[in-house]
Amino acid sequence: MNSSAVTAESDPAESALRAGLSWGVKGSFTRYVASMPDGRYGAGHGATETADGAFFFELDDASGYDPRAQEGLVKYRGDVRFKAHGGMLFVMIVDPWLEFHEDGVLLTVVDAERWPDRDHRITLATLRPDERGSRGLPPGWRCQEARLSAEGAAVFNDVYPVGEVLEPARYCTGVPTAAHDAESVTPPVAPGR
Ligand code: HEM
Repeated sequence: MNSSAVTAESDPAESALRAGLSWGVKGSFTRYVASMPDGRYGAGHGATETADGAFFFELDDASGYDPRAQEGLVKYRGDVRFKAHGGMLFVMIVDPWLEFHEDGVLLTVVDAERWPDRDHRITLATLRPDERGSRGLPPGWRCQEARLSAEGAAVFNDVYPVGEVLEPARYCTGVPTAAHDAESVTPPVAPGR
């Protein structure tokens, strides 16, 4: 799936001008669910579906993020659910957080196995900066390549192997970044237009 929710073509009002996380999770999974007669998916509680089939999770709290060190925690919020096979397939992607560590970035979500307890989280994906994908995004937006973690593989019934490439995660922390950040990207549309 070519999820490019933060480009001017798709929906600048929704994404380029608001801090958030734009992530299509796994496009082939969305298509698989959508292809079934009883397949349903939807977004709410801070998440919206974008025109190209990705999901936009609004920024919740970036106070735990240090833009200088590029480390810490950025919380996004939203609830995306997939359902099919008469309810046997039920996947929830709730409140994705990006955890920036010295040695990498993790995308965590609420552990659906413990729902409605939201305090337990699992690592769904490991991320790696995608410099090419970051080009052309609005100022302050970045792109990370996402790969399925071991805990994430279980979410998808172990159909995908650990390391499976997921949709790229595009995000804005809402925290003013270093000056070079703004210079390194070419906004596809003037902010505020
Ligand atoms: C009634 C039980 C199920 C049946 C009969 C079933 C059947 C199938 C079939 C036939 C495919 C291949 C689809 C294709 O290639 O177009 C598939 C793919 C898949 N199934 Fe299921 N499935 C079942 C339950 C589940 C459950 C509970 C999950 C949990 C998330 C799941 C996750 C997946 C995933 C992730 C794929 C790969 C989708 C893709 O990326 O192409 N399935 N399933």
